[in-house]
Amino acid sequence: MSKSISGFSKLSKQKKIEWIIDTYFPNNDDAAQIIKQYWNNDEILQKLHDEFIENTITNYYLPFGVAPNFLINGRLYAIPMAIEESSVVAAASKSAKFWLDRGGFKTKIISTTKIGQVHFLFNGAYEKLNSFFKSIKHKLIDDAKPITQNMDKRGGGILDIELRDKTQGLENYYQLHATFETLDAMGANFINSCLEQFASTLKHQAEDFEGFDDNEKNIQVIMSILSNYVPDCLVRAEVNCPVAELNEDKNLSATEFGTKFIQALKIAELDPHRAVTHNKGVMNGVDAVVLATGNDFRAIEAGVHAFAARNGNYTSLTHAKIENSMFSFWIELPMALGTVGGLTNLHPLVKLALEMLHHPTAKELMQIVAVAGLAQNFAAIRSLITTGIQEGHMKMHLMNILNQFHANEEERSAIVEHFKKNVVTHSAVVEAINDLRNKN
Ligand code: MEV
Repeated sequence: MSKSISGFSKLSKQKKIEWIIDTYFPNNDDAAQIIKQYWNNDEILQKLHDEFIENTITNYYLPFGVAPNFLINGRLYAIPMAIEESSVVAAASKSAKFWLDRGGFKTKIISTTKIGQVHFLFNGAYEKLNSFFKSIKHKLIDDAKPITQNMDKRGGGILDIELRDKTQGLENYYQLHATFETLDAMGANFINSCLEQFASTLKHQAEDFEGFDDNEKNIQVIMSILSNYVPDCLVRAEVNCPVAELNEDKNLSATEFGTKFIQALKIAELDPHRAVTHNKGVMNGVDAVVLATGNDFRAIEAGVHAFAARNGNYTSLTHAKIENSMFSFWIELPMALGTVGGLTNLHPLVKLALEMLHHPTAKELMQIVAVAGLAQNFAAIRSLITTGIQEGHMKMHLMNILNQFHANEEERSAIVEHFKKNVVTHSAVVEAINDLRNKN
């Protein structure tokens, strides 16, 4: 029976586990063991993980894999990926190898501007607010100096603050819409601290502004928060090769492959149902690298999908064309990433991942992540228009099914051998395991 509890966060880890067992697993003798088997023997490391969040009772493992052979702007990378989906790293690696032999990936940073907003209510005319805003704009920036001085020294900081009239959507609603350059930091804390300072300056300056009447003096700040929609923090990645070099599949000529690929991309551009799945495949690559490098994949997901719908229709993040017998395939992604601060300084595996990527700047990491997304999408489309997706998926899934049945080494090699010649389906694998076990 579920029950509520107060003061849960103040209990020791042991007491929290006891409460969970008593409440949810009174008859399950294994529950405590399952929770504890993921604890790390290294107490310092375990404490580090315990303190990432509140109420930690154990660790949740994800596989950390590596996709080698990524040639990006002439430099080779092995890309770390944290993901549970069986075929993703294999697909990325296959794609990397394919493009390694065809000149690799080319990338560029289009822009790096981040955004934050103070949302507030002002009971008065826009013109009056605007002249007030103009008169205090320098003060908004000056008051934030204690927060921005280090970032300013490094060449970043506040780029601009605009007043935006949003009263058409909500009565009295205005925004301070601020733009920032946060260099190698993702910048969430920096931006939010600046915004809260802007909000405080805005409110206090309004109270003393002689041009306002009493109603106008009382600005009501609703909230101050960065935006995860960063269409001006944009990276592009692409691959190109002569169509004739697309010839990799025994059942399709290079031209047929190229044409079918372009059609598949057009379908994703046209149809939101397909676009969502298509982009989900892109995000398989993106999220895995974002997570392995200690960045916030929810922020990236939210921003990327808003970007995919920026023209009013949800559409493909990737595009392809054939011109003068050259095949080009590219992606543009908005992406606010950091390679300093946050988990990047704390999590030993994140530090290792960044070291493996040659200690990238945030701009370099944006490019690597965009490549991972493009590569993943290439692999998915390639499978979809040739063998179908299930062949590769089910081969990888075979291992999951064998694990589910606790197959021993001998059983594994026999079954893997069997499915080199047979189609993998869940029921076929179960049948093969049962047959093997009955025979023995
Ligand atoms: C599965 O995780 C991703 C795919 O569905 C992507 C796609 O359909 O393009 C294979």
